[in-house]
Amino acid sequence: MSEITYDYMEEYIRGLISDRDGILNEIENFARENGVPIVQKETGVFLEFMTSMKKPKRILELGTAIGFSSILMYQAAGTEPEIVTIERDERMIELANVNLNKFNLSEKIKIEEGDCLEVLEKLTEPFDLIFMDAGKGHYNHFLPHCLRLLKEDGIIVADNVLFRGMVASQDLVKRRKITIVKRMRTYLELVTQDKDLITSVIPMGDGIAVTKRR
Ligand SMILES: C[S@@+](CC[C@H](N)C(=O)[O-])C[C@H]1O[C@@H](n2cnc3c(N)ncnc32)[C@H](O)[C@@H]1O
Repeated sequence: MSEITYDYMEEYIRGLISDRDGILNEIENFARENGVPIVQKETGVFLEFMTSMKKPKRILELGTAIGFSSILMYQAAGTEPEIVTIERDERMIELANVNLNKFNLSEKIKIEEGDCLEVLEKLTEPFDLIFMDAGKGHYNHFLPHCLRLLKEDGIIVADNVLFRGMVASQDLVKRRKITIVKRMRTYLELVTQDKDLITSVIPMGDGIAVTKRR
């Protein structure tokens, strides 16, 4: 039970999504079988949809894992975009590099090794699309940098913003997750209450927030 939507609804929607082809399907299966936390099926399709609409030339991703969502966004963009993706786990980076090589994408998708906040502080070139998918307890701290790095008409897609329902319902909050939940609520307050921003929060997957400037 995801605590975000009804199980029957999730199962039905996932049932509509066809399996991916070839190597991408192998990467997805590897992740699901080995507990690598990649985007949920419907979130992956949503990300492809947004990327294909936006046609970004430069994408920033927080949280590479094994490169699955980077490859998805690259293929969906149709613009051969440059992607900068941040990851701190060496083992993930090794696997991501293997996967990027399989698609000949190691030149186009650049993995920045390190903590998101530290890497964000050093980035200066703007992006058309930013996908936040790492460090759930720090989205509120990442936000000022993401806004600084976001082009005037850029979009931020943030995953896991409802965090297993805990962000919306105090009854679901596990003690050891209190800080993450409070900070995620702060993130959602910041992006929904800032009059210069427009944000839509979608109860899909683990919760997605899409933000752009008005
Ligand atoms: C949910 S996974 C990313 C999944 C990937 N976007 C995909 O869907 O294919 C989050 C990744 O972020 C990394 N991570 C978590 N916190 C981080 C941080 N503060 N800085 C850098 N990487 C972080 C984790 O090691 C993990 O591999």
